[in-house]
Amino acid sequence: MTSFDAVFQSSINNPEEFWAEAAKGITWYRWCDKVLDSSNPPFYKWFSGGKMNTCYNAVDRHVENGRADQTAIIYDSPVTDTIRKITYKELQGQVANFAGALQAQGVTKGDTVIIYMPMIPEAAVAMLACARIGAIHSVVFGGFAAHELAIRIDHAQPKLIITASGALEGAKKLAYKPLVDAAIEQSTHKVETVVLFQRDFITAEMTEGKDIDWQDFVKDAKPADCVELDATDPLYILYTSGTTGMPKGVLRDNGGHAVALHYTMKALYDINPGEVWWSASDVGWVVGHSYIVYAPLIYGATSVFYEGKPVGTPDAGAFWRVISEHKVKALFTAPTAFRAIKKEDPNGELYKKYDVSSFECLYLAGERTDPDTLNWAKDMLGVPVIDHWWQTETGWAIVGNCRGIEELPVKVGSPTKAMPGWDVQVVDNDCQPVPPNTEGNIVVKLPLPPGTLTTLWRNEERFVKSYMTNFPGYYETSDGGFMDEEGYVYVMGRMDDVINIAGHRLSTGAMEEVISAHPDVAECAVFGTHDTMKGQLPVGLFVLKAGVDRKEEDIKKELVQMVRDQIGPIACFRDSAQVARLPKTRSGKILRGTMRAIANNKEYNMPSTIDDPAILDEITETLKTIGYPKA
Ligand code: COA
Ligand code: AMP
Repeated sequence: MTSFDAVFQSSINNPEEFWAEAAKGITWYRWCDKVLDSSNPPFYKWFSGGKMNTCYNAVDRHVENGRADQTAIIYDSPVTDTIRKITYKELQGQVANFAGALQAQGVTKGDTVIIYMPMIPEAAVAMLACARIGAIHSVVFGGFAAHELAIRIDHAQPKLIITASGALEGAKKLAYKPLVDAAIEQSTHKVETVVLFQRDFITAEMTEGKDIDWQDFVKDAKPADCVELDATDPLYILYTSGTTGMPKGVLRDNGGHAVALHYTMKALYDINPGEVWWSASDVGWVVGHSYIVYAPLIYGATSVFYEGKPVGTPDAGAFWRVISEHKVKALFTAPTAFRAIKKEDPNGELYKKYDVSSFECLYLAGERTDPDTLNWAKDMLGVPVIDHWWQTETGWAIVGNCRGIEELPVKVGSPTKAMPGWDVQVVDNDCQPVPPNTEGNIVVKLPLPPGTLTTLWRNEERFVKSYMTNFPGYYETSDGGFMDEEGYVYVMGRMDDVINIAGHRLSTGAMEEVISAHPDVAECAVFGTHDTMKGQLPVGLFVLKAGVDRKEEDIKKELVQMVRDQIGPIACFRDSAQVARLPKTRSGKILRGTMRAIANNKEYNMPSTIDDPAILDEITETLKTIGYPKA
């Protein structure tokens, strides 16, 4: 048995012992009564009765244990031409002050706070300050439009919102304040206070009595201590796309989350305390929560906070510049970032300009890593390129290659094997295991390991229905794929209406809801198509209401604008076409999968329940007029 297999087996055979050992990496105020409480499945609880504080583990204990002067965060912002280093001691001061200001504002344990911020360290300060006092944060990605923010405000019901005056997207200046104001206007839950960080390049107009400048907020604040929390108390809500316009509020606890993230920094990423780690994502996504903020800090590493793009800030050498300048040991990003770099600098000329001798490994996740990108990156960098698979729900990798335990040979197209704690299986629709190399539903036997979602915020019913019902006793990942004889998992893609655009998770169902709301549209279908740069892009087909006689081009422009305004530019919704009718089953279900196959030039079986097969020829012809399938 290899050393990885031994670790894996012990995690599956003796999960309580395994995670109790891992929990030694966390500082507890009180050790738990039960490592795993299975009394109310599928609501499992890790470390119940345990007392701790995530912020204490991420900040204060390092100050107390000799890391006070070590850099905690390196803020590297090519868009504002700034590099700023923040030590653990400085971070402690900023977080304690901000937490004190929150308390003075009446925010207390169990209250929710929405954070809508660009990639600046103040976003981490806000998150950690909430964690410090037991407030539950919900970070919303800055690329979401006011409407999406409003949905989250109504659902999370925050006591206040923390934001910034704006962001720089390459050369574009984006004002956040008008979006926040519009979202508050649109929501029924009334937010009374907005704390705003003014940035040099854009000044937000403030409303007396509602908006508070960040500097004024913290000026006279009394630093707050870490509050003793139950390990099972919620740390954050992170909304993620489901199959409808209403996102799912994934809820994470404190104790299990801290234990699992701490464990992965060494086991999976092979990072040691004090080393420089860089996750080039955004705090608005789960990768940002776990691996820009919480995991590296809980582990006592140095985390790079990068406000820039892989290309265009200023060029495709940006990643190599950051690695060389800050002596980064490992980088974690999405394959799409590497495709963007490859397109601009196919021969790696810019890479050769930098001394990247500190660099030991590249980790990719967020979407499937295509073999071309993997091989290109590996050949150019000369270091391991490790794909790993996870989801917002899981908070950390389900399948990966544990370099800190034993680096397994990479098989191109596979993120390698189930991580310790994850009993991954592939089953058919009747929950029966399928033979090796046969595609099926990827599921995980319950209980899930620590750090994964405990429920959906204010929606236990949806939690049970979405994840725990179709395959009793298992967590339904909604990803399809297969496993080979050696246990290597191959993740082939979502089985639902969730798509992945440039490593960003979006819902075609949500886009359909927006398009259907157009006054001239009778019905529509949106599905994902393959894109060589962004992985997937959405395409929409719509049927007009009887009697509407308008130019198709005008309606298409309006639809693009509606999706930008209501979901956000990150939905990348550009291509659509008018059709006379949509293919449906005899019971009226729209055949999205068949249209997706046509648009992607994939073979498909004529659905036996199709109402009128001739419609598929019409769809094929229409898709051709807008360039699908792509060459
Ligand atoms: N705030 C506001 N708008 C944002 C935004 C943010 N944080 N992030 C993206 N947008 C906007 C962009 O400006 C763009 O708007 P436009 O249509 O007006 O031009 C739109 O959303 C699409 O953005 P994006 O998908 O990022 O495309 P791009 O062409 O600007 O950049 C890449 C392409 C590949 C460089 C970029 O997608 C990228 O870096 N991807 C990696 C993503 C990643 O790291 N994901 C982590 C998950 S693990
Ligand atoms: P998110 O919740 O935004 O992290 O998106 C999760 C989804 O992204 C998964 O359900 C997968 O469909 C996809 N995904 C993430 N990482 C990978 C990977 N390494 N390989 C294949 N798909 C991935």
